[in-house]
Amino acid sequence: MYRTHTCGELRVANVGEEVTLSGWVQKNRKLGGMTFVDLRDRYGVTQLVFDENNAALAEEANKVGREYVVQVSGKVAERYSKNDKMPTGDIEIIASEFKILNASEVPPFTIEEDTDGGDELRMQYRYLDLRRANVRKNLELRNKLTFEMRNYLNQQAFIEVETPVLIKSTPEGARDFIVPSRMNEGQFYALPQSPQVFKQLLMVGGMDRYFQIVKCFRDEDLRADRQPEFTQLDCEMSFVEQEDVIMTFEGLTKHLFKTVKGIEIDYKFPQMPYKEAMESYGCDKPDIRFEMKFQELTSLAQGKDFVVFDSVEYIGGICAEGCASYTRKQLDALTNFVKKPQIGAKGLVYVKCNEDGSFKSSVDKFFNQDDLKAWAEKFDAKPGDLILVLAGAKEHTLNALCELRLEMGEQLGLRDRNVFAPLWVVDFPLLEWDEENERFHAKHHPFTSPNKEDIDLMENDPGAVRANAYDLVINGVEIGGGSVRIHDKELQAKMFKALGFSKEEAEEQFGFLMNAFKYGAPPHGGVAFGLDRWAAMFAGIDSIRDVIAFPKNNSGRDVMIDTPSFVAPEQLTELNLASTYKEE
Ligand code: AMO
Repeated sequence: MYRTHTCGELRVANVGEEVTLSGWVQKNRKLGGMTFVDLRDRYGVTQLVFDENNAALAEEANKVGREYVVQVSGKVAERYSKNDKMPTGDIEIIASEFKILNASEVPPFTIEEDTDGGDELRMQYRYLDLRRANVRKNLELRNKLTFEMRNYLNQQAFIEVETPVLIKSTPEGARDFIVPSRMNEGQFYALPQSPQVFKQLLMVGGMDRYFQIVKCFRDEDLRADRQPEFTQLDCEMSFVEQEDVIMTFEGLTKHLFKTVKGIEIDYKFPQMPYKEAMESYGCDKPDIRFEMKFQELTSLAQGKDFVVFDSVEYIGGICAEGCASYTRKQLDALTNFVKKPQIGAKGLVYVKCNEDGSFKSSVDKFFNQDDLKAWAEKFDAKPGDLILVLAGAKEHTLNALCELRLEMGEQLGLRDRNVFAPLWVVDFPLLEWDEENERFHAKHHPFTSPNKEDIDLMENDPGAVRANAYDLVINGVEIGGGSVRIHDKELQAKMFKALGFSKEEAEEQFGFLMNAFKYGAPPHGGVAFGLDRWAAMFAGIDSIRDVIAFPKNNSGRDVMIDTPSFVAPEQLTELNLASTYKEE
């Protein structure tokens, strides 16, 4: 038997017991005639003591280095100097037997919460990084999350069904990863960007309520919240309308908050139309932990001979409470922030609302006190507040203001990681104009149904049609999104037409789905959640990498197994492929 207990288990109540533990040596140190070893496993760390009464054993323990795998037997004793930072800090094991189970080379970084290893190094030795408590805790939290998802959905009669991974291109809008087929010469599978079409086919198949915790693959530019392969909690339901889906998954969200985070949410989540989200927060995933909504100043601020304003489509701003005391240096830093290429504003105008009721602005030359007072009234600004204004093309300026608002929220401590503000964003547009290709594409995907009231607009004003689509946003993160689907083949054909598909193209790409719809497709709808994003949010971290056991880096590489990599020429030949890539 390798162990009687784990390294996280023993307490004062066990004092006097003979125990055996196995684990990794976190560190060993000699103090006078005594040797102390911190022994670690998944469950915790326990201190071992080798005293002078057993010099030979102490000698052995002195020889082992960090990360050796050892087994120790001994008696549990109460410590003289207790360590209240460790759950096992009241006890130690007085070793009587000691055995090296496996040696270890010196690890390339220290395996402790505060490590000296950089990101790339830890990715390369991810199996060592996983031994660190902080990484392990994230995976434990992820496990709890998936357990509770299954728990809730099982109670609601959802069944977990697996869908294939070698499929045909899916319509989520990113690039596909493709896989050559040896048996079907010259042909390729695509990896699923989501199980979208299969879950709809499961509804046609009468499954009624489906879910799956499933890998999805998207070849897109990576960010902190994006991986080329990520996990969705994917769900679909039959005989539902939008509000049915929303209420079911609002229930799931509350269940997860309660069981995983210990937070009770007893109110109905707010629902915000997409248009309002864009106009008031500049994005479709507003962080509503704080207000600081945009106000438009275009008509108020134009016509005062300030050319910068007079020549633009949109002028708008935010009001940061209590920030009139911002110094020149702080305002310059904000100006530099909005001018960063990723944000791309031309400049920043400020108005300080002084305590005496007067105003001081960076555009005093063009706007008198009455003008500025009218601005302040628009924001309901109080003495001591700071108004920050941006101007330019509408969409671009709304986006820039969104970043500025989030930055101010951060500076003012309004984005507390322990506060959660869930929100449904609804009434998304069905279609989005693609400037580059001069055609509409589906904002969500081509199976999303239009709002009944707007169907007549599909031919003549497609851009104005609202969709039965919804996103779950928590603290400014898009956690999930879904829609009520089209289940009628005529309407689906209309949608393909609006998207500029010819009959043949639609048939070639989605013929199987259109066919299925000929045989009695039930009304249905669903949603998919980003599991990695959910886990990262619950763990209070920004990067989803930290909640994935073996993540890819920003270039989409797994640096541990060193992939993607070249394949042997014979392998290419067998697949009827030739690579045109030449190494420089
Ligand atoms: P959507 O494309 O909105 O919808 O994806 C659903 C959720 O998946 C997460 N997500 C990602 N997470 C990490 N890395 C990525 N690259 C990535 N891309 C998306 C997000 C997102 O909200 N089939 C539809 C759902 C439906 O209509 O039911 C779909 O996939 O959290």
